Amino acid sequence: MGMRVVLWLCLLPLCFDFLRAVAGSEGKEYNRNDFPKDFVFGVSTSAYQVEGAALEDGRKRSIYDTFAHRSKHETQNPDVGCDQYHKYKEDVKLMVETGLNAYRFSISWSRLIPNGRGPVNPKGLRYYNNLINELISHGIEPHVTLTHTDTPQVLEDEYGGFLDPRIIEDYTSYVDVCFREFGDRVRHWTTFNEANIFVIGGYDVGITPPSRCSSPFGIHCTGGNSTTEPYVVAHIILLAHAYAVRIYKEKYQAKQLGFIGMNLLCYHFSPLTNKSEDVIAAQRSYDFYIGWFMHPLTYGDYPEIVKKNAGSRIPVFSKTESKLVKGSFDFIGINYYTVMMIKDNSISLTKMPRDLFADMAVEWLMDPNTSEVPMEFVFPNEAWGLERVLEHFKEVYENPTIFIHENGQASNYNTSINDPFRVEYIHAHIGSLLNAVRNGSNTRGYFVWSLLDVYELLFDFDYTFGLYYVNYSDPKLTRHPKLSQKWYSEFLKGNYATTADIGINQVENTTTLDALQYSAS
Ligand SMILES: *[C@@H]1O[C@H](CO)[C@@H](O)[C@H](O)[C@H]1NC(C)=O
Ligand SMILES: *[C@@H]1O[C@H](CO)[C@@H](O)[C@H](O)[C@H]1NC(C)=O
Ligand SMILES: *[C@@H]1O[C@H](CO)[C@@H](O)[C@H](O)[C@H]1NC(C)=O
Ligand SMILES: *[C@@H]1O[C@H](CO)[C@@H](O)[C@H](O)[C@H]1NC(C)=O
Ligand SMILES: *[C@@H]1O[C@H](CO)[C@@H](O)[C@H](O)[C@H]1NC(C)=O
Ligand SMILES: *[C@@H]1O[C@H](CO)[C@@H](O)[C@H](O)[C@H]1NC(C)=O
Ligand SMILES: *[C@@H]1O[C@H](CO)[C@@H](O)[C@H](O)[C@H]1NC(C)=O
Repeated sequence: MGMRVVLWLCLLPLCFDFLRAVAGSEGKEYNRNDFPKDFVFGVSTSAYQVEGAALEDGRKRSIYDTFAHRSKHETQNPDVGCDQYHKYKEDVKLMVETGLNAYRFSISWSRLIPNGRGPVNPKGLRYYNNLINELISHGIEPHVTLTHTDTPQVLEDEYGGFLDPRIIEDYTSYVDVCFREFGDRVRHWTTFNEANIFVIGGYDVGITPPSRCSSPFGIHCTGGNSTTEPYVVAHIILLAHAYAVRIYKEKYQAKQLGFIGMNLLCYHFSPLTNKSEDVIAAQRSYDFYIGWFMHPLTYGDYPEIVKKNAGSRIPVFSKTESKLVKGSFDFIGINYYTVMMIKDNSISLTKMPRDLFADMAVEWLMDPNTSEVPMEFVFPNEAWGLERVLEHFKEVYENPTIFIHENGQASNYNTSINDPFRVEYIHAHIGSLLNAVRNGSNTRGYFVWSLLDVYELLFDFDYTFGLYYVNYSDPKLTRHPKLSQKWYSEFLKGNYATTADIGINQVENTTTLDALQYSAS
Protein backbone atom coordinates (compact mmCIF):
# COMPACT_ATOMS: atom_id res chain seq x y z
CA MET A 1 0.00 0.00 0.00
CA GLY A 2 1.46 3.36 -1.01
CA MET A 3 2.06 6.05 1.59
CA ARG A 4 -0.56 8.30 0.02
CA VAL A 5 -3.27 5.72 0.32
CA VAL A 6 -2.33 4.95 3.89
CA LEU A 7 -2.55 8.61 4.74
CA TRP A 8 -6.00 9.04 3.35
CA LEU A 9 -7.13 6.22 5.58
CA CYS A 10 -5.41 7.75 8.53
CA LEU A 11 -8.29 9.55 10.13
CA LEU A 12 -8.51 7.40 13.22
CA PRO A 13 -6.88 7.77 16.64
CA LEU A 14 -4.60 4.81 16.07
CA CYS A 15 -3.24 6.39 12.98
CA PHE A 16 -0.38 8.22 14.60
CA ASP A 17 0.80 5.04 16.27
CA PHE A 18 0.82 3.40 12.91
CA LEU A 19 2.74 6.26 11.35
CA ARG A 20 5.16 6.18 14.22
CA ALA A 21 5.92 2.57 13.47
CA VAL A 22 6.32 3.27 9.78
CA ALA A 23 8.29 6.45 10.25
CA GLY A 24 10.36 5.02 13.07
CA SER A 25 11.57 2.30 10.82
CA GLU A 26 12.95 4.98 8.54
CA GLY A 27 14.75 6.33 11.57
CA LYS A 28 14.33 9.98 10.73
CA GLU A 29 11.17 11.08 12.43
CA TYR A 30 10.98 12.80 15.76
CA ASN A 31 8.61 14.75 17.92
CA ARG A 32 8.57 17.14 20.81
CA ASN A 33 9.46 14.38 23.26
CA ASP A 34 12.80 13.84 21.55
CA PHE A 35 13.81 17.22 22.98
CA PRO A 36 14.59 17.79 26.65
CA LYS A 37 11.47 18.36 28.75
CA ASP A 38 12.35 21.97 29.54
CA PHE A 39 13.15 22.80 25.90
CA VAL A 40 10.93 25.73 24.93
CA PHE A 41 8.84 25.90 21.76
CA GLY A 42 7.18 29.15 20.79
CA VAL A 43 6.47 31.75 18.15
CA SER A 44 7.82 35.25 17.57
CA THR A 45 6.61 38.71 16.61
CA SER A 46 7.77 42.29 17.12
CA ALA A 47 5.99 45.39 18.35
CA TYR A 48 5.58 47.56 15.27
CA GLN A 49 4.83 44.54 13.10
CA VAL A 50 2.07 43.13 15.23
CA GLU A 51 0.58 45.77 17.51
CA GLY A 52 -1.02 48.35 15.24
CA ALA A 53 -2.48 51.25 17.26
CA ALA A 54 0.59 53.20 16.18
CA LEU A 55 -0.58 56.54 17.50
CA GLU A 56 -3.02 55.37 20.11
CA ASP A 57 -2.87 55.87 23.87
CA GLY A 58 0.15 58.13 23.74
CA ARG A 59 2.52 56.09 21.56
CA LYS A 60 4.82 58.10 19.33
CA ARG A 61 6.74 57.26 16.17
CA SER A 62 9.78 55.00 15.92
CA ILE A 63 12.24 54.69 13.03
CA TYR A 64 10.30 51.57 12.01
CA ASP A 65 7.14 53.67 11.51
CA THR A 66 9.11 56.21 9.49
CA PHE A 67 10.58 53.48 7.31
CA ALA A 68 7.16 51.91 6.70
CA HIS A 69 5.77 55.27 5.66
CA ARG A 70 8.31 55.62 2.89
CA SER A 71 6.28 53.23 0.71
CA LYS A 72 2.66 52.75 -0.28
CA HIS A 73 0.78 49.74 1.04
CA GLU A 74 -2.03 48.05 -0.83
CA THR A 75 -2.88 45.20 1.51
CA GLN A 76 -2.99 47.02 4.82
CA ASN A 77 -1.84 50.13 6.62
CA PRO A 78 1.07 48.96 8.81
CA ASP A 79 0.06 51.48 11.49
CA VAL A 80 -2.97 49.23 11.98
CA GLY A 81 -1.42 45.91 10.93
CA CYS A 82 -3.12 42.95 12.55
CA ASP A 83 -3.99 45.06 15.59
CA GLN A 84 -2.70 42.84 18.37
CA TYR A 85 -2.89 45.89 20.64
CA HIS A 86 -6.65 45.37 20.70
CA LYS A 87 -6.70 41.66 19.98
CA TYR A 88 -4.06 40.33 22.34
CA LYS A 89 -6.53 38.18 24.25
CA GLU A 90 -7.68 36.53 21.05
CA ASP A 91 -4.06 35.99 20.02
CA VAL A 92 -3.12 34.40 23.33
CA LYS A 93 -5.99 31.95 22.70
CA LEU A 94 -4.36 31.07 19.37
CA MET A 95 -1.11 30.36 21.20
CA VAL A 96 -2.94 28.10 23.62
CA GLU A 97 -4.69 26.35 20.75
CA THR A 98 -1.29 25.72 19.14
CA GLY A 99 0.13 24.37 22.40
CA LEU A 100 3.01 26.82 22.74
CA ASN A 101 5.31 27.12 25.74
CA ALA A 102 6.39 30.67 24.99
CA TYR A 103 5.70 33.86 23.08
CA ARG A 104 8.55 36.09 21.93
CA PHE A 105 7.41 39.67 21.42
CA SER A 106 9.04 43.06 21.71
CA ILE A 107 8.23 46.09 23.80
CA SER A 108 7.84 49.32 21.87
CA TRP A 109 10.13 51.87 23.51
CA SER A 110 8.01 54.60 21.88
CA ARG A 111 4.88 53.24 23.51
CA LEU A 112 6.38 52.87 26.96
CA ILE A 113 8.42 56.08 26.99
CA PRO A 114 7.05 58.11 24.06
CA ASN A 115 9.67 60.86 24.26
CA GLY A 116 12.53 58.38 24.37
CA ARG A 117 13.43 59.52 27.88
CA GLY A 118 11.46 60.86 30.79
CA PRO A 119 7.96 59.95 31.88
CA VAL A 120 6.54 56.46 31.45
CA ASN A 121 3.27 56.32 29.51
CA PRO A 122 0.77 54.71 31.93
CA LYS A 123 -1.32 53.31 29.06
CA GLY A 124 1.76 51.71 27.49
CA LEU A 125 2.68 50.25 30.85
CA ARG A 126 -0.84 48.91 31.28
CA TYR A 127 -0.81 47.29 27.84
CA TYR A 128 2.37 45.31 28.43
CA ASN A 129 1.26 44.34 31.92
CA ASN A 130 -2.03 43.09 30.48
CA LEU A 131 -0.29 41.14 27.73
CA ILE A 132 2.23 39.56 30.10
CA ASN A 133 -0.47 38.66 32.63
CA GLU A 134 -2.67 37.18 29.92
CA LEU A 135 0.22 35.01 28.70
CA ILE A 136 1.20 33.83 32.15
CA SER A 137 -2.35 33.05 33.20
CA HIS A 138 -2.48 30.73 30.17
CA GLY A 139 0.84 29.07 30.98
CA ILE A 140 2.75 30.82 28.19
CA GLU A 141 6.14 32.22 29.06
CA PRO A 142 6.96 35.73 27.81
CA HIS A 143 10.36 36.12 26.09
CA VAL A 144 10.84 39.84 25.63
CA THR A 145 12.93 41.75 23.10
CA LEU A 146 13.75 45.27 24.24
CA THR A 147 14.41 46.82 20.82
CA HIS A 148 13.40 45.39 17.47
CA THR A 149 14.55 47.94 14.84
CA ASP A 150 12.45 50.62 16.54
CA THR A 151 14.54 53.39 18.07
CA PRO A 152 12.20 56.27 19.05
CA GLN A 153 12.16 58.71 16.12
CA VAL A 154 12.56 61.60 18.55
CA LEU A 155 16.01 60.33 19.58
CA GLU A 156 16.94 59.68 15.96
CA ASP A 157 16.06 63.30 15.22
CA GLU A 158 17.74 64.71 18.29
CA TYR A 159 21.17 63.09 18.03
CA GLY A 160 21.12 60.34 15.39
CA GLY A 161 19.97 57.44 17.58
CA PHE A 162 22.55 54.66 17.78
CA LEU A 163 25.15 56.74 15.94
CA ASP A 164 25.70 58.74 19.09
CA PRO A 165 26.90 57.36 22.44
CA ARG A 166 24.26 59.55 24.14
CA ILE A 167 21.82 56.77 23.24
CA ILE A 168 23.44 54.57 25.87
CA GLU A 169 22.04 56.58 28.76
CA ASP A 170 18.55 56.78 27.26
CA TYR A 171 18.56 53.10 26.29
CA THR A 172 19.69 51.90 29.69
CA SER A 173 17.09 54.08 31.44
CA TYR A 174 14.41 52.55 29.22
CA VAL A 175 15.47 48.96 29.85
CA ASP A 176 15.73 49.69 33.57
CA VAL A 177 12.04 50.64 33.50
CA CYS A 178 11.25 47.35 31.73
CA PHE A 179 13.18 45.24 34.25
CA ARG A 180 11.62 47.12 37.17
CA GLU A 181 8.03 46.98 35.89
CA PHE A 182 7.91 43.56 34.20
CA GLY A 183 10.89 41.62 35.54
CA ASP A 184 8.89 39.95 38.30
CA ARG A 185 7.14 37.98 35.52
CA VAL A 186 9.54 38.11 32.54
CA ARG A 187 12.51 35.77 32.80
CA HIS A 188 14.03 36.13 29.32
CA TRP A 189 15.25 39.46 28.02
CA THR A 190 16.90 40.20 24.69
CA THR A 191 18.60 43.59 24.38
CA PHE A 192 18.69 43.85 20.57
CA ASN A 193 17.04 41.93 17.77
CA GLU A 194 19.44 41.10 14.92
CA ALA A 195 22.06 43.59 16.08
CA ASN A 196 24.19 42.75 13.01
CA ILE A 197 21.36 43.33 10.54
CA PHE A 198 20.23 46.50 12.28
CA VAL A 199 23.72 47.82 11.55
CA ILE A 200 24.24 46.39 8.05
CA GLY A 201 20.72 47.07 6.81
CA GLY A 202 20.36 50.42 8.52
CA TYR A 203 23.81 51.98 8.05
CA ASP A 204 25.61 50.18 5.20
CA VAL A 205 23.14 49.16 2.49
CA GLY A 206 20.28 51.31 3.79
CA ILE A 207 17.46 48.83 3.19
CA THR A 208 16.16 48.80 6.78
CA PRO A 209 15.49 51.59 9.29
CA PRO A 210 16.96 54.19 9.61
CA SER A 211 17.93 53.74 5.91
CA ARG A 212 21.33 55.37 6.15
CA CYS A 213 24.04 54.62 3.57
CA SER A 214 26.28 56.32 1.04
CA SER A 215 26.88 55.83 -2.64
CA PRO A 216 27.88 53.44 -4.18
CA PHE A 217 26.98 51.06 -1.34
CA GLY A 218 23.28 51.72 -1.01
CA ILE A 219 20.32 53.30 -2.73
CA HIS A 220 17.66 55.70 -1.48
CA CYS A 221 19.99 56.72 1.35
CA THR A 222 18.62 59.24 3.84
CA GLY A 223 22.18 60.35 4.59
CA GLY A 224 24.99 58.34 6.12
CA ASN A 225 28.42 56.91 5.45
CA SER A 226 28.59 53.21 4.61
CA THR A 227 32.34 53.01 5.13
CA THR A 228 32.36 54.18 8.73
CA GLU A 229 28.91 54.23 10.34
CA PRO A 230 28.32 50.47 10.55
CA TYR A 231 31.44 50.01 12.69
CA VAL A 232 30.58 52.98 14.89
CA VAL A 233 26.98 51.87 15.45
CA ALA A 234 27.97 48.26 16.17
CA HIS A 235 30.39 49.50 18.81
CA ILE A 236 27.74 51.65 20.48
CA ILE A 237 25.25 48.78 20.40
CA LEU A 238 27.74 46.43 22.05
CA LEU A 239 28.30 49.00 24.79
CA ALA A 240 24.58 49.77 25.22
CA HIS A 241 23.94 46.04 25.43
CA ALA A 242 26.69 45.49 27.96
CA TYR A 243 25.52 48.36 30.19
CA ALA A 244 21.95 47.02 30.03
CA VAL A 245 23.21 43.59 31.09
CA ARG A 246 25.20 45.13 33.93
CA ILE A 247 22.10 46.90 35.22
CA TYR A 248 20.10 43.69 35.04
CA LYS A 249 22.78 41.67 36.78
CA GLU A 250 23.48 44.23 39.50
CA LYS A 251 19.97 45.37 40.31
CA TYR A 252 17.56 42.63 39.33
CA GLN A 253 18.89 39.21 38.47
CA ALA A 254 19.38 37.87 42.00
CA LYS A 255 15.78 38.71 42.84
CA GLN A 256 14.07 38.06 39.51
CA LEU A 257 16.09 34.98 38.53
CA GLY A 258 15.96 35.73 34.82
CA PHE A 259 18.34 35.66 31.87
CA ILE A 260 19.54 38.26 29.41
CA GLY A 261 21.16 38.08 25.98
CA MET A 262 21.50 39.52 22.49
CA ASN A 263 20.11 38.32 19.16
CA LEU A 264 21.93 37.97 15.80
CA LEU A 265 20.85 36.93 12.34
CA CYS A 266 22.94 33.95 11.31
CA TYR A 267 23.39 32.36 7.93
CA HIS A 268 25.48 29.30 7.46
CA PHE A 269 28.33 30.38 5.20
CA SER A 270 29.37 27.50 3.02
CA PRO A 271 32.34 27.64 0.62
CA LEU A 272 31.23 27.47 -2.99
CA THR A 273 34.16 25.20 -3.86
CA ASN A 274 36.78 23.32 -1.92
CA LYS A 275 39.50 25.72 -3.03
CA SER A 276 41.29 26.98 0.03
CA GLU A 277 40.56 30.63 -0.75
CA ASP A 278 36.82 29.90 -0.73
CA VAL A 279 37.06 27.90 2.49
CA ILE A 280 38.90 30.81 4.11
CA ALA A 281 36.37 33.26 2.63
CA ALA A 282 33.52 31.35 4.29
CA GLN A 283 35.35 31.52 7.60
CA ARG A 284 35.89 35.26 7.05
CA SER A 285 32.15 35.69 6.45
CA TYR A 286 31.45 34.07 9.82
CA ASP A 287 33.96 36.42 11.45
CA PHE A 288 32.46 39.54 9.89
CA TYR A 289 28.83 38.67 10.20
CA ILE A 290 28.72 36.88 13.53
CA GLY A 291 32.19 37.20 15.07
CA TRP A 292 31.87 41.00 14.84
CA PHE A 293 29.50 40.71 17.82
CA MET A 294 30.19 37.24 19.23
CA HIS A 295 33.95 37.65 19.50
CA PRO A 296 33.72 40.78 21.71
CA LEU A 297 30.91 39.18 23.72
CA THR A 298 32.98 36.05 24.30
CA TYR A 299 36.59 37.26 24.26
CA GLY A 300 36.41 41.05 24.70
CA ASP A 301 37.61 42.18 21.25
CA TYR A 302 36.79 42.10 17.53
CA PRO A 303 38.15 39.22 15.43
CA GLU A 304 41.67 39.88 14.08
CA ILE A 305 40.57 39.72 10.44
CA VAL A 306 37.81 42.28 11.02
CA LYS A 307 40.23 44.68 12.71
CA LYS A 308 42.77 44.14 9.94
CA ASN A 309 40.44 44.73 7.01
CA ALA A 310 38.48 47.60 8.56
CA GLY A 311 41.65 49.32 9.74
CA SER A 312 41.16 52.70 11.36
CA ARG A 313 37.43 52.66 10.61
CA ILE A 314 36.64 50.25 13.43
CA PRO A 315 36.65 51.66 16.98
CA VAL A 316 39.08 50.24 19.52
CA PHE A 317 37.79 48.83 22.81
CA SER A 318 39.33 50.46 25.86
CA LYS A 319 40.37 48.04 28.62
CA THR A 320 37.28 48.98 30.63
CA GLU A 321 34.94 48.54 27.66
CA SER A 322 36.47 45.22 26.76
CA LYS A 323 35.95 43.95 30.30
CA LEU A 324 32.39 45.23 30.33
CA VAL A 325 31.45 43.57 27.03
CA LYS A 326 33.23 40.27 27.58
CA GLY A 327 30.86 37.67 28.95
CA SER A 328 27.90 40.09 29.03
CA PHE A 329 25.21 37.53 28.20
CA ASP A 330 23.40 34.52 29.58
CA PHE A 331 22.26 33.35 26.15
CA ILE A 332 22.48 34.22 22.47
CA GLY A 333 19.38 34.47 20.30
CA ILE A 334 19.80 33.23 16.75
CA ASN A 335 17.53 34.01 13.82
CA TYR A 336 18.21 31.49 11.06
CA TYR A 337 16.65 31.33 7.62
CA THR A 338 19.07 30.01 5.01
CA VAL A 339 22.57 29.16 3.72
CA MET A 340 24.82 31.51 1.78
CA MET A 341 27.41 30.10 -0.60
CA ILE A 342 30.65 32.02 -0.40
CA LYS A 343 33.26 32.74 -3.06
CA ASP A 344 36.47 34.59 -2.33
CA ASN A 345 36.66 38.15 -3.64
CA SER A 346 39.92 39.36 -2.10
CA ILE A 347 40.38 41.82 -4.92
CA SER A 348 37.89 44.13 -3.18
CA LEU A 349 40.55 44.75 -0.50
CA THR A 350 42.67 46.64 -3.02
CA LYS A 351 39.93 49.24 -3.48
CA MET A 352 38.84 52.38 -1.63
CA PRO A 353 36.40 53.38 -0.30
CA ARG A 354 35.19 50.13 1.22
CA ASP A 355 32.09 49.23 3.17
CA LEU A 356 31.66 46.21 5.41
CA PHE A 357 31.01 43.89 2.48
CA ALA A 358 34.12 45.04 0.65
CA ASP A 359 36.06 44.49 3.88
CA MET A 360 34.57 41.01 4.07
CA ALA A 361 35.92 40.45 0.54
CA VAL A 362 33.55 37.72 -0.53
CA GLU A 363 30.83 37.15 -3.07
CA TRP A 364 27.53 35.84 -1.72
CA LEU A 365 25.59 33.41 -3.83
CA MET A 366 22.52 31.34 -3.30
CA ASP A 367 23.16 27.61 -3.28
CA PRO A 368 23.17 26.74 -7.00
CA ASN A 369 21.43 23.49 -6.17
CA THR A 370 18.46 25.25 -4.67
CA SER A 371 18.22 28.31 -6.86
CA GLU A 372 14.96 27.03 -8.30
CA VAL A 373 12.68 28.29 -5.55
CA PRO A 374 9.05 28.49 -6.69
CA MET A 375 7.35 31.89 -6.77
CA GLU A 376 5.09 30.99 -3.86
CA PHE A 377 7.84 31.17 -1.26
CA VAL A 378 11.19 32.78 -0.59
CA PHE A 379 13.76 30.57 1.10
CA PRO A 380 15.26 27.36 -0.19
CA ASN A 381 14.82 24.68 2.46
CA GLU A 382 18.42 24.44 3.65
CA ALA A 383 17.85 23.08 7.10
CA TRP A 384 21.29 21.46 7.27
CA GLY A 385 22.79 24.94 7.64
CA LEU A 386 21.13 25.42 11.03
CA GLU A 387 23.04 22.46 12.44
CA ARG A 388 26.28 23.89 10.99
CA VAL A 389 25.62 27.29 12.59
CA LEU A 390 25.01 25.66 15.96
CA GLU A 391 28.19 23.59 15.59
CA HIS A 392 30.04 26.83 14.80
CA PHE A 393 28.82 28.46 18.02
CA LYS A 394 29.76 25.35 19.94
CA GLU A 395 33.27 25.15 18.55
CA VAL A 396 34.19 28.84 18.27
CA TYR A 397 32.26 30.55 21.08
CA GLU A 398 32.44 28.02 23.90
CA ASN A 399 29.01 26.48 23.35
CA PRO A 400 26.84 29.28 24.74
CA THR A 401 23.20 28.82 25.74
CA ILE A 402 21.18 29.50 22.60
CA PHE A 403 17.57 30.16 21.69
CA ILE A 404 16.56 29.91 18.06
CA HIS A 405 14.50 33.09 18.19
CA GLU A 406 13.32 33.05 14.60
CA ASN A 407 13.02 30.49 11.85
CA GLY A 408 10.32 30.26 9.22
CA GLN A 409 9.33 30.50 5.60
CA ALA A 410 8.00 33.57 3.80
CA SER A 411 5.34 32.85 1.25
CA ASN A 412 3.25 34.92 -1.07
CA TYR A 413 0.38 36.28 1.00
CA ASN A 414 -1.93 34.80 -1.64
CA THR A 415 -1.00 31.25 -0.57
CA SER A 416 -3.36 31.90 2.33
CA ILE A 417 -3.80 28.87 4.59
CA ASN A 418 -2.39 26.33 2.17
CA ASP A 419 1.31 26.09 3.03
CA PRO A 420 2.75 22.58 2.76
CA PHE A 421 6.14 24.10 1.86
CA ARG A 422 6.15 25.86 5.26
CA VAL A 423 5.46 22.57 7.02
CA GLU A 424 8.36 20.99 5.14
CA TYR A 425 10.61 23.89 6.01
CA ILE A 426 9.83 23.97 9.74
CA HIS A 427 9.87 20.21 10.03
CA ALA A 428 13.29 19.98 8.42
CA HIS A 429 14.74 22.76 10.55
CA ILE A 430 13.51 21.26 13.81
CA GLY A 431 15.15 18.02 12.67
CA SER A 432 18.43 19.81 12.01
CA LEU A 433 18.18 21.49 15.40
CA LEU A 434 17.62 18.10 17.05
CA ASN A 435 20.79 16.76 15.43
CA ALA A 436 22.74 19.67 16.88
CA VAL A 437 21.19 19.25 20.33
CA ARG A 438 22.00 15.55 20.28
CA ASN A 439 25.58 16.42 19.37
CA GLY A 440 25.96 18.70 22.38
CA SER A 441 24.71 22.12 21.27
CA ASN A 442 23.42 24.05 24.26
CA THR A 443 20.25 25.20 22.51
CA ARG A 444 17.26 25.56 24.84
CA GLY A 445 14.42 26.77 22.65
CA TYR A 446 12.97 27.29 19.20
CA PHE A 447 10.55 29.98 18.00
CA VAL A 448 8.80 30.10 14.65
CA TRP A 449 8.65 33.47 12.95
CA SER A 450 5.83 34.36 12.97
CA LEU A 451 2.56 33.83 14.82
CA LEU A 452 0.53 35.80 12.28
CA ASP A 453 0.90 37.20 8.78
CA VAL A 454 2.39 40.58 9.65
CA TYR A 455 3.92 43.59 7.97
CA GLU A 456 7.42 42.48 6.94
CA LEU A 457 10.47 44.69 6.93
CA LEU A 458 11.67 43.42 3.55
CA PHE A 459 8.46 42.19 1.97
CA ASP A 460 5.69 44.56 3.05
CA PHE A 461 2.54 42.38 3.20
CA ASP A 462 3.47 40.63 -0.05
CA TYR A 463 5.42 37.76 1.50
CA THR A 464 4.43 36.73 5.01
CA PHE A 465 5.50 34.04 7.49
CA GLY A 466 2.43 33.46 9.65
CA LEU A 467 1.24 30.19 11.11
CA TYR A 468 -2.09 32.00 11.02
CA TYR A 469 -3.36 33.76 7.94
CA VAL A 470 -4.74 37.22 8.68
CA ASN A 471 -7.49 38.26 6.32
CA TYR A 472 -6.72 41.91 5.67
CA SER A 473 -9.86 42.34 3.53
CA ASP A 474 -11.94 41.50 6.52
CA PRO A 475 -12.51 44.46 8.87
CA LYS A 476 -12.33 42.05 11.80
CA LEU A 477 -8.83 40.98 10.67
CA THR A 478 -9.87 37.39 11.29
CA ARG A 479 -7.07 34.90 11.86
CA HIS A 480 -7.25 31.49 10.15
CA PRO A 481 -4.94 28.61 11.08
CA LYS A 482 -2.75 27.43 8.22
CA LEU A 483 -1.70 23.88 7.59
CA SER A 484 1.62 24.76 9.24
CA GLN A 485 -0.18 25.76 12.45
CA LYS A 486 -1.93 22.39 12.44
CA TRP A 487 1.36 20.63 11.94
CA TYR A 488 3.22 22.57 14.65
CA SER A 489 0.38 21.95 17.07
CA GLU A 490 0.43 18.21 16.32
CA PHE A 491 4.20 18.15 16.77
CA LEU A 492 3.90 19.90 20.13
CA LYS A 493 1.34 17.39 21.32
CA GLY A 494 4.05 14.78 20.96
CA ASN A 495 2.70 13.21 17.82
CA TYR A 496 5.12 12.02 15.21
CA ALA A 497 3.92 14.71 12.90
CA THR A 498 5.90 13.97 9.81
CA THR A 499 5.31 16.00 6.71
CA ALA A 500 3.44 12.98 5.50
CA ASP A 501 1.19 12.81 8.54
CA ILE A 502 -0.86 15.76 7.49
CA GLY A 503 -1.22 14.56 3.97
CA ILE A 504 1.31 16.93 2.55
CA ASN A 505 1.07 15.28 -0.83
CA GLN A 506 -2.64 15.76 -0.99
CA VAL A 507 -2.97 19.38 -0.08
CA GLU A 508 -2.25 20.87 -3.48
CA ASN A 509 -5.91 20.62 -4.22
CA THR A 510 -7.18 21.47 -0.79
CA THR A 511 -8.85 24.79 -0.42
CA THR A 512 -10.23 24.46 3.06
CA LEU A 513 -8.68 22.89 6.08
CA ASP A 514 -11.88 20.99 6.73
CA ALA A 515 -11.06 18.91 3.74
CA LEU A 516 -7.87 17.78 5.41
CA GLN A 517 -9.62 16.16 8.34
CA TYR A 518 -6.32 14.85 9.61
CA SER A 519 -6.88 16.37 12.98
CA ALA A 520 -9.66 13.89 13.58
CA SER A 521 -6.95 11.87 15.26
C1 LIG B 1 32.94 58.79 5.33
O1 LIG B 1 33.79 59.08 6.41
C2 LIG B 1 35.18 59.06 6.06
C3 LIG B 1 35.98 59.24 7.34
O2 LIG B 1 35.53 60.36 8.02
C4 LIG B 1 35.45 60.14 5.03
O3 LIG B 1 36.80 60.08 4.64
C5 LIG B 1 34.57 59.90 3.82
O4 LIG B 1 34.71 60.94 2.90
C6 LIG B 1 33.12 59.81 4.25
N1 LIG B 1 32.30 59.40 3.11
C7 LIG B 1 31.16 60.00 2.80
C8 LIG B 1 30.41 59.43 1.64
O5 LIG B 1 30.72 60.94 3.45
C1 LIG C 1 34.37 19.37 -0.76
O1 LIG C 1 35.01 18.17 -0.31
C2 LIG C 1 34.18 17.35 0.50
C3 LIG C 1 35.02 16.21 1.02
O2 LIG C 1 35.90 15.75 0.07
C4 LIG C 1 32.98 16.90 -0.35
O3 LIG C 1 32.13 16.09 0.45
C5 LIG C 1 32.21 18.13 -0.81
O4 LIG C 1 31.13 17.76 -1.63
C6 LIG C 1 33.11 19.08 -1.54
N1 LIG C 1 32.36 20.32 -1.76
C7 LIG C 1 32.33 20.95 -2.93
C8 LIG C 1 31.53 22.20 -2.94
O5 LIG C 1 32.94 20.57 -3.90
C1 LIG D 1 24.85 20.08 -5.95
O1 LIG D 1 24.30 18.80 -6.14
C2 LIG D 1 25.19 17.92 -6.81
C3 LIG D 1 24.43 16.65 -7.13
O2 LIG D 1 23.59 16.30 -6.05
C4 LIG D 1 26.43 17.68 -5.93
O3 LIG D 1 27.32 16.83 -6.60
C5 LIG D 1 27.12 19.00 -5.68
O4 LIG D 1 28.18 18.83 -4.77
C6 LIG D 1 26.13 20.01 -5.10
N1 LIG D 1 26.76 21.31 -5.07
C7 LIG D 1 26.84 22.03 -3.96
C8 LIG D 1 27.52 23.35 -4.09
O5 LIG D 1 26.38 21.65 -2.89
C1 LIG E 1 0.36 34.32 -6.11
O1 LIG E 1 1.51 35.11 -6.40
C2 LIG E 1 2.44 34.42 -7.19
C3 LIG E 1 3.70 35.24 -7.27
O2 LIG E 1 3.41 36.58 -7.57
C4 LIG E 1 1.85 34.13 -8.55
O3 LIG E 1 2.79 33.44 -9.35
C5 LIG E 1 0.62 33.26 -8.35
O4 LIG E 1 -0.03 33.06 -9.56
C6 LIG E 1 -0.37 33.92 -7.37
N1 LIG E 1 -1.38 32.95 -7.06
C7 LIG E 1 -2.65 33.30 -6.90
C8 LIG E 1 -3.58 32.18 -6.53
O5 LIG E 1 -3.04 34.43 -7.06
C1 LIG F 1 29.68 16.65 16.85
O1 LIG F 1 30.47 17.26 17.85
C2 LIG F 1 31.85 16.96 17.75
C3 LIG F 1 32.52 17.54 18.97
O2 LIG F 1 32.18 18.87 19.16
C4 LIG F 1 32.39 17.51 16.45
O3 LIG F 1 33.76 17.22 16.31
C5 LIG F 1 31.62 16.90 15.30
O4 LIG F 1 32.03 17.48 14.07
C6 LIG F 1 30.12 17.14 15.48
N1 LIG F 1 29.38 16.40 14.48
C7 LIG F 1 28.64 17.01 13.55
C8 LIG F 1 27.89 16.11 12.62
O5 LIG F 1 28.56 18.21 13.44
C1 LIG G 1 -11.63 37.61 3.71
O1 LIG G 1 -12.64 38.45 4.14
C2 LIG G 1 -13.48 38.85 3.08
C3 LIG G 1 -14.42 39.93 3.63
O2 LIG G 1 -15.05 39.47 4.81
C4 LIG G 1 -14.20 37.65 2.54
O3 LIG G 1 -15.02 38.04 1.47
C5 LIG G 1 -13.16 36.64 2.06
O4 LIG G 1 -13.78 35.45 1.67
C6 LIG G 1 -12.17 36.33 3.16
N1 LIG G 1 -11.10 35.53 2.60
C7 LIG G 1 -10.69 34.39 3.15
C8 LIG G 1 -9.55 33.69 2.46
O5 LIG G 1 -11.18 33.91 4.15
C1 LIG H 1 -6.14 18.29 -8.48
O1 LIG H 1 -7.20 18.95 -9.17
C2 LIG H 1 -7.07 18.85 -10.57
C3 LIG H 1 -8.16 19.73 -11.19
O2 LIG H 1 -9.33 19.73 -10.42
C4 LIG H 1 -7.19 17.37 -10.98
O3 LIG H 1 -7.05 17.25 -12.38
C5 LIG H 1 -6.06 16.60 -10.30
O4 LIG H 1 -6.18 15.23 -10.58
C6 LIG H 1 -6.12 16.81 -8.80
N1 LIG H 1 -4.94 16.21 -8.19
C7 LIG H 1 -5.00 15.39 -7.13
C8 LIG H 1 -3.71 14.89 -6.59
O5 LIG H 1 -6.05 15.06 -6.63
